[in-house]
Amino acid sequence: MPSCSSPKVSFIDQAPARESFADAVLAGLGRRPRTLPAKFFYDRAGSELFDRITDLPEYYPTRTEIGILRQEAPRLARMIGPGAQLIEFGAGSLAKVRLILSALEAPEGFTAIDISGSHLKAAAEELARDYPQVPIAALCADYTRPLTLPEPLASSSARRVGFFPGSTIGNFEPDAAVDFLATVHPIFEPRGLFIVGVDLKKDRATLEAAYNDSAGVTAAFNLNMLERINRELEGNFALERFRHRAFYNEEKGRIEMHLVSLADQVVSVAGRTFSFRKGESIHTESSYKYAIGEFQSLAARAGWLPAGVLTDPENLFSLHLLKTG
Ligand SMILES: C[S@@+](CC[C@H](N)C(=O)[O-])C[C@H]1O[C@@H](n2cnc3c(N)ncnc32)[C@H](O)[C@@H]1O
Repeated sequence: MPSCSSPKVSFIDQAPARESFADAVLAGLGRRPRTLPAKFFYDRAGSELFDRITDLPEYYPTRTEIGILRQEAPRLARMIGPGAQLIEFGAGSLAKVRLILSALEAPEGFTAIDISGSHLKAAAEELARDYPQVPIAALCADYTRPLTLPEPLASSSARRVGFFPGSTIGNFEPDAAVDFLATVHPIFEPRGLFIVGVDLKKDRATLEAAYNDSAGVTAAFNLNMLERINRELEGNFALERFRHRAFYNEEKGRIEMHLVSLADQVVSVAGRTFSFRKGESIHTESSYKYAIGEFQSLAARAGWLPAGVLTDPENLFSLHLLKTG
């Protein structure tokens, strides 16, 4: 596997090839209803836009989850114990793991996994500057594909603790979330823990405001998918002819994000053409919300046992502690 190391971070590149982006886009635009996989939001521009979303007043999940972690990090650290190997999935800007790393006793190492390579590398190097005593690996990979864990993590017998914040698990369809949790379960055996951030069900107005911010950053994040297709796959989407739409689908318990065509139009991508009718949409992301018991049942289907749930005083967000058994 290609790898390059700065003095403090080993960076391992298992990024999906351009072909897998092209195949997914062509397949998704060709089916009805049209879809694009949310994981492809995150090129460098998409990751930066996501970081801006986390600072928005309407976007309660980030500040709420950080509040829970700030409050509960000492308790988490006691549960985890000394000398653990910490592994974060969908690491993003690595802001939240700092609260855990600061509380942990002598962690043996930290591995950050994310699909967005250059953003991951920059975030891991910044983390390494602030935590020079912790060996840090940055693995650019798609965690829905089989993962090759880097050394020294792969051969370490230390207790492994997973961290999957941001309610990114909600971007999976529920059955796919079970598959993901079941696939990673063996990584954590024996004695492993998994800390998973899960957005809770709540009133429609709060949910819909979080995905329709008044500054238009979420709209720009959604539309960046089309810009990325234009940049990387010789697409010719006219961005002003599509509109961001996000709403709570209560029956399914999920926020849906769409890009809606504002006109009858023909778009070409990687040499193929796609006709859109006015009002037709591309479904770009689902964000499932789970009551505490719902998520525990889902995790149990993947072999994980509940080991505790942490929430905020307003019951906006939950952090599930799961154990391998
Ligand atoms: C909703 S953001 C959360 C970021 C951060 N963990 C937080 O809590 O603010 C999702 C993150 O997961 C990454 N991601 C999404 N799908 C992925 C996949 N299939 N494999 C690896 N990383 C993925 C994105 O690049 C992004 O950094």
